[in-house]
Amino acid sequence: MPTEIRLTLPRPHPGQATILRSTARFNVVDCGRRFGKTVAAQIRIVKPALAGHPTAWFAPEYKFLAEPWDSLSSILRPVVVGSSKQERRIRLLGGGCIDFWSLDDPDSGRSRKYKHVVVDEAAKARYLEAAWTKAIRPTLTDLKGTADFWSTPRGRDYFWKLYVRGEDELEPEYRSFRFPTLANPYIDPAEIEDARRQLPDRVFRQEYLAEFLEDAGGVFRHVADAVDRGRLLPEEPRRVGAYALGVDLARLEDFTVLCVLDQSGRQVYFERFNQIDWTRQVASIKAVAERYRATVVLDASGLGDPIYQQLADLGLAVEPYVLTSASKKPLIDELAMGLDAGKIRLMDVAEQEAELVAYEYQMTKSRNWTANAPEGMHDDCVIALALAYHGCQAVRPSWGIRTSGRAR
Ligand SMILES: Nc1ncnc2c1ncn2[C@@H]1O[C@H](COP(=O)(O)OP(=O)(O)OP(=O)(O)O)[C@@H](O)[C@H]1O
Ligand SMILES: [Mg+2]
Repeated sequence: MPTEIRLTLPRPHPGQATILRSTARFNVVDCGRRFGKTVAAQIRIVKPALAGHPTAWFAPEYKFLAEPWDSLSSILRPVVVGSSKQERRIRLLGGGCIDFWSLDDPDSGRSRKYKHVVVDEAAKARYLEAAWTKAIRPTLTDLKGTADFWSTPRGRDYFWKLYVRGEDELEPEYRSFRFPTLANPYIDPAEIEDARRQLPDRVFRQEYLAEFLEDAGGVFRHVADAVDRGRLLPEEPRRVGAYALGVDLARLEDFTVLCVLDQSGRQVYFERFNQIDWTRQVASIKAVAERYRATVVLDASGLGDPIYQQLADLGLAVEPYVLTSASKKPLIDELAMGLDAGKIRLMDVAEQEAELVAYEYQMTKSRNWTANAPEGMHDDCVIALALAYHGCQAVRPSWGIRTSGRAR
């Protein structure tokens, strides 16, 4: 007599149920944060895996795999016959399995065959198009497999293109769905209202209403328009006292960035070096500050404080900005507003532009939103630019007359 094994899965909420009823081969599911994408994708993958088929879960980076791995391991515990974190595979009674792949490598999954695949947080995958067309899609050929893409949108990227395909009647294999966070009955609407207050409107629309914005909901907009293409060389100082030098000091393994703006918001100098020797840093700052007769604006928190003291002792005009998570917000907002209003002209520095474009809103563990560089990226160019721009705003009224107070 076969024994009956009972597994407990979450019961889909109505929004999830609508998606799970889809019979389309490829489902593109665009949802607000916390809608229940990862939970719904788990409900979906369990069925073919239990029916004895090979299945796979793809996510942009390894860190996104921990949650579904733990949760699926726990749901499927009574039927797991083997699980190897090294192989990243859960094997099930009946011959089915779930493989876990990070899309860090666009070749992930190549040469396997699957009956169903999940691509969670699809819009965050850097090489989504290559991963889908060259690696994942072919894994579905042998078994006529299905695929679901789950994501919060990120502008008009490849995930959006897939979404558009799903809306096209001439593409019957694809079907699209869109749900806001509010469609998850397990999320307190007060949390959503909190986010509405914390975030710029366009970011709220992207993250919670799942709108595909033309200009993805990063922190800084119109960055490309602010760059003077081909302008790489520093410009000679023209007006005495009309410059602000923003300094982001190298801390542990990042860079020191020196950024000079003139009073019109035009960047005239940029330097980035990864020498954390304090003497070298002070000498470089002093040289640039003297060349432009600039007011130095630097982060004087922690290790920055003694540097601030040294610069002040050298007779430079220095404005300390004590950077904390609370004081960073207005500094970043000020820069964002300057870029929005077209008040800043940037030199054509690739790493500076990349940092500005990538800067993003992130949800903290305590469910607050902060603006940061994505994990693994630096923010030193952004901070130096923000400090320089702040310096421009602060010194503007007295420009032209400040130099007299400075010992040289
Ligand atoms: N069907 C359900 N039954 C009970 N709770 C659910 C259900 N679906 C989602 N939840 C709960 O809602 C919350 C969000 O779910 P989930 O993590 O799946 O959302 P998400 O859209 O993947 O979020 P994120 O945008 O953070 O990745 C979790 O606390 C989850 O337990
Ligand atoms: Mg999720």
